[in-house]
Amino acid sequence: MAKSTSKDILSLIEADHRHFEQLFADAEKADNKKLYECFNQIFQALTLHARTEELVFYSAMQEYEETKKYVEKAEKEHEEAKVILEEIKELKPGELEFQTKINELKKAVQHHVKEEENQIFNAIRKCMNDEQLTNLGRNFQETKAKLEPAVQAAMLE
Ligand SMILES: [Fe+2]
Ligand SMILES: [Fe+2]
Repeated sequence: MAKSTSKDILSLIEADHRHFEQLFADAEKADNKKLYECFNQIFQALTLHARTEELVFYSAMQEYEETKKYVEKAEKEHEEAKVILEEIKELKPGELEFQTKINELKKAVQHHVKEEENQIFNAIRKCMNDEQLTNLGRNFQETKAKLEPAVQAAMLE
């Protein structure tokens, strides 16, 4: 097994994105009883990923003109997803709006993920070498581990 610390940040971010797709697919199939548990997982995975990206990935993007220009829009899209997550938190799984809102969230996340994996990743690869990307990957994993307890608590607020 490859050492987890040797992964570059782009492959770690991609792995998270694929995980979201799986969680949204699970939520689509879930009955009302399971739906809240699915949402719980979506909330935690998205919140943890977004916070870690902002701290590690987006702050690294600020270092280069080529990548800096993407930060503002990306942060705005995180904010939009956060608003939808909070709206869903107020609903009950039996409510018709629950599934609709999850679908709205899924579309917003898909759009954002596409932009990250296309424009942003390309720009990043032009600015950073493998070593930098691996160091950022280590930072990404460490930061995520540190944030995890706070994110778990945020779901229960
Ligand atoms: Fe993001
Ligand atoms: Fe992302």
